[in-house]
Amino acid sequence: MCHKTQFTSWEKTVHAKATENAKAATDRTFGAECLPCHATNADEAMPGVQCEMCHGPGSDYKKMSVMKDRAEAEANGLVIPTQETCDRCHDGKDHRKKVIRDEQLENKNAIHVFKNR
Ligand code: HEC
Ligand code: HEC
Ligand code: HEC
Repeated sequence: MCHKTQFTSWEKTVHAKATENAKAATDRTFGAECLPCHATNADEAMPGVQCEMCHGPGSDYKKMSVMKDRAEAEANGLVIPTQETCDRCHDGKDHRKKVIRDEQLENKNAIHVFKNR
């Protein structure tokens, strides 16, 4: 409702398709151990790397009064993604190539389109 620009573009990113792509893998066998990085809830009920994986759990900051105030939102768990956010999954081990956050900001295949850029 609030972040339509980001949502409609996020839907087209590889992150949104991370669960289905892991299931379709031919070189590795899909299982529960894939879900911490290839889903949102270690549970296929929330497939793909959804907003909260990068921005923190929204239940405490989604109230309009909180969301309107960035400092207040951050105090209630809103994460402005840093390099460390990406490194949780993109740790450089096995098939997980490292990414540089700054270089990916305009990459519509990975990060949603921004409203103010
Ligand atoms: C610790 C986090 C993590 C785990 C666990 C993990 N992945 Fe991944 N996976 C990633 C990341 C990050 C990428 C993106 C890598 C890149 O930059 O291309 C990726 C990419 C992929 C891709 C697409 C690119 C490719 O290499 O083919 C497939 C398919 C995949 N993973 C399958 C799996 C399967 C199946 C499992 C479980 C057996 C799994 N992954 C477990 C983080 C993880
Ligand atoms: C792969 C990580 C990732 C995912 C998933 C993600 N975002 Fe973001 N988001 C970012 C990054 C990185 C920024 C830029 C932060 C900065 O400016 O330093 C950002 C910025 C934003 C902003 C502020 C800037 C703007 O105008 O766009 C909003 C709002 C936002 N994201 C909403 C969302 C929503 C809603 C979703 C899910 C539909 C989502 N994000 C999913 C990484 C992500
Ligand atoms: C919860 C785990 C997770 C987080 C956090 C995460 N990613 Fe990813 N990312 C993945 C997975 C899994 C894939 C592979 C998706 C696929 O191919 O299906 C991926 C794919 C990508 C790709 C595409 C790689 C390629 O070769 O096509 C880029 C670029 C990327 N991520 C950048 C980022 C950036 C930048 C951040 C931090 C702002 C971030 N990711 C945060 C899990 C994550």
